[in-house]
Amino acid sequence: MNIVVVSGSPRPQRTSHQVALEIISRLSKVENLSVTLLDVKEANFPNLDYTYKKNPSANETMKYFSETVAASDGIIIVSPEYNGSFSGALKNTIDYFYGEFSKKVIGVVSVSTGRMGGIRAVMDLQKLILALGAFPLPKYLTTPEVQNLFSNSVLVDDRYAKHMDNFLEEFLWLTEAVKNQKEKNYLKIAI
Ligand SMILES: Cc1cc2nc3c(=O)[nH]c(=O)nc-3n(C[C@H](O)[C@H](O)[C@H](O)COP(=O)(O)O)c2cc1C
Repeated sequence: MNIVVVSGSPRPQRTSHQVALEIISRLSKVENLSVTLLDVKEANFPNLDYTYKKNPSANETMKYFSETVAASDGIIIVSPEYNGSFSGALKNTIDYFYGEFSKKVIGVVSVSTGRMGGIRAVMDLQKLILALGAFPLPKYLTTPEVQNLFSNSVLVDDRYAKHMDNFLEEFLWLTEAVKNQKEKNYLKIAI
């Protein structure tokens, strides 16, 4: 299966990127998975004027995002919580695309330095996922007090690591189920 991890913070000193890298590291150990990072900060898309498919200035990075999302079976979005929602740069990046996300399973991971772990970013992202015609994974992963979870880029909090593994297992289960369904003949309404 093809899995995409979107890292949603545009900040030079971002902490949520470490969570995205940890997810990639864990998924890379799973058999028969290919995992790709799409990085909102590196992509650095300008404020949306034209969506990708109608954009006279579309660049190679936009093309890469479009093709990578379209070819994926499941997507994990990692976002910091900013002012009670998800990252604006992430929203700007996603708004370039639409059909590419259709019928993808999307799992949400929020990251925060606070004790609530970014739950408000999760709730808003799940609504965005519905608007994209994608399937929000019911289980989500919040990341409270991210500043205490890593030491020299190594995840040192066993409790959070267990939450992450449980989230990833649920994500892979639903992604595989939907992928299998897409490969089958399915019921159609005969009119
Ligand atoms: C503009 C801005 C708004 C923020 N708002 C919130 C917030 O509403 N709730 C919260 O828990 N943390 C908030 N934070 C702190 C983030 O949780 C913190 O920056 C964390 O490290 C994740 O973001 P990062 O990946 O960009 O570092 C905010 C940070 C910024 C820069």
